[in-house]
Amino acid sequence: MDRNLALEVVRVTEAAALASARLMGRGDRNGADRAAVDAMRRVFDHVSVRGEVVIGEGERDEAPMLFIGEKVGRQGEGDVEVEIAVDPLEGTNLCATGAPNAVSVIAIGEKGKLLRAPDAYMEKIAVGPGARGAIDLRLSPTENLRRVADALGKYLEDLTVVILDRPRHECLVAEVRAAGARIKLIGDGDVSGALNTCFPESGVDVLMGTGGAPEGVIAAAALRCVGGDMQGRLRFASEEERARATRMGRSDPDKVLSLEELAGGNVMFAATGVTNGDFLRGVHFTGDGARTHSVVMRSKSGTIRYIETIHRFARAPDYGH
Ligand code: FBP
Repeated sequence: MDRNLALEVVRVTEAAALASARLMGRGDRNGADRAAVDAMRRVFDHVSVRGEVVIGEGERDEAPMLFIGEKVGRQGEGDVEVEIAVDPLEGTNLCATGAPNAVSVIAIGEKGKLLRAPDAYMEKIAVGPGARGAIDLRLSPTENLRRVADALGKYLEDLTVVILDRPRHECLVAEVRAAGARIKLIGDGDVSGALNTCFPESGVDVLMGTGGAPEGVIAAAALRCVGGDMQGRLRFASEEERARATRMGRSDPDKVLSLEELAGGNVMFAATGVTNGDFLRGVHFTGDGARTHSVVMRSKSGTIRYIETIHRFARAPDYGH
């Protein structure tokens, strides 16, 4: 996985962001998602990898494109073999309502190194580089906050914890409030929430709570690149879901998974903003095209590149318009 690939890959998230941003605020979350998936899938054919989707739009029988096991990329002779985790539109509701922080994301890993996450939930805790090694999902939220505050050299009362605003988090929110920390409740988008912990300007120190398992793996890949830390534990709504996880190779489905178990080896992460966000600006349409704002990063070098692209629709390749 070389540095040139990183620049190729960002075209994939740019395409998905451009296509879904056209549908921002139309109240059609499925339509916006479909546009992102179609555009991403099309651009993938030009990326010089022999890729296999391990996290995508679902199982083969439920998703027409970017399904688990689908081969993507140019599949050329000398192309590197990789596995791919995608969320063409992370925050479908955010895009459908024009709310901040919808992004298109992709993580690329070496063969066998990204967790095969079932379409279940995952309990997560994520922090930036300053609190690496301080988190442990087996401990209570209060104990984790104490440890993170110590690692960051902050008062616990000054920590900001990002949590998805969901009824299932009632107890978690009550405990964090009782501990004295500040809370930022978000409507959707815990990949951005996790990533924000790595960028002090976001004002966020910790992500806590339960969100999608696929999003957990993608966030872990991003945190690997930035030097943050994360743990995850799969949460199942039914025995059928648990059985599915076992079939996908999880011998102990209830294990607390480390950052490396979620996304090991060399990984690469790219994201493009769909709507304006804390971390990336959204797609801005101009008279003759659009501007996109993306980030691309690699765990091997730790490099973080922000890419602002001016797209000229009359000249650019087909981005789904
Ligand atoms: P979508 O883009 O699939 O709508 O996911 C948005 C999201 O908020 C994720 O960021 C998060 O992990 C998950 O949904 C939480 O799931 P739920 O909405 O069921 O609580």
